[in-house]
Amino acid sequence: MTKLLIDTDPGVDDALAILMAFADPAVEVVGLTVAAGNVGLHHTVRNALRLVETAGLDLPVHPGCPAPILPPPPSAAFVHGEDGFGDAGLPEPARRASSVHAVDAILEAARRHAGELTLVCLGPLTNLAVALMIDPTLPSRVPRLVVMGGAVDGRGNTERIKAEFNIGFDPEAADIVFRRWPHFELVDWEATLAHGIPFDRLDDWLTAETPGARLMRAIAEKRHAWVRAHRSATHSHLADALAMAVVLEPALVAEAEERHVSVSLVGEHTRGMTVVDWTCRTGLAANVRIARRIDQAGFERRVEGALRAG
Ligand code: RIB
Ligand code: CA
Repeated sequence: MTKLLIDTDPGVDDALAILMAFADPAVEVVGLTVAAGNVGLHHTVRNALRLVETAGLDLPVHPGCPAPILPPPPSAAFVHGEDGFGDAGLPEPARRASSVHAVDAILEAARRHAGELTLVCLGPLTNLAVALMIDPTLPSRVPRLVVMGGAVDGRGNTERIKAEFNIGFDPEAADIVFRRWPHFELVDWEATLAHGIPFDRLDDWLTAETPGARLMRAIAEKRHAWVRAHRSATHSHLADALAMAVVLEPALVAEAEERHVSVSLVGEHTRGMTVVDWTCRTGLAANVRIARRIDQAGFERRVEGALRAG
């Protein structure tokens, strides 16, 4: 049984990714640690509670850092809605967040499940960076880290054209993680763009009368309208869902490249950029396994399964 800790900034695609993990019987999600990102921490914590409630699980939701290491933070409310869940007017969750901070929860989970914990980061890396500053030995107890973030070929998705949102939201945090975590897996925005899901297929799955599909129908409407108008009229690009498919089924990665990747902290257009040593000129050891091609049918099977899960 894989023990999984999910650091997240829900967010519509985070929601789908988390439902995918909940739907996998081979995975025990040990908790959600929440970051500020797509929208403010108040909203992302409330949305994480809603997800746990939707799945009927008794899981701790740990509020994390409310801001990046160096503000000001950007916002993705124009995509995900002011509340991060499509401004769908969902009821307040009955559950309450844990009093244990996300950073402490990451450190505690790594101690409790030393050697058998997988950590996936679906939002800005602020919580993980602070955990690493408190305990630099953390990576020795977490055999697998998967990060959704970056744009290895420079096609970002923020106003800083080279930066992807999660890395661009807190470049200092990402720099700490890329420097201090010896080796991890990266599912980036380029891979996301290469593995879109046709809207007509996704809309069919969303008609399922299951708690997860009902929630996703409600919260995805605003995001789908924005994506159709501004990014693609035919495909939905679900970054966190793609990353979660790789977490749940590593064999879906059909092509990957091991390279040294760093994070740029400066430049009007390059702050938050993931800089890849493609020709190995720095002589620095590869710290990142970059997923380049992922089994599309396997990815879609995971998404469909999560939406149709009772
Ligand atoms: O760039 C995509 C990432 O930014 C996803 O994790 C999305 O949820 C937003 O956080
Ligand atoms: Ca996210």
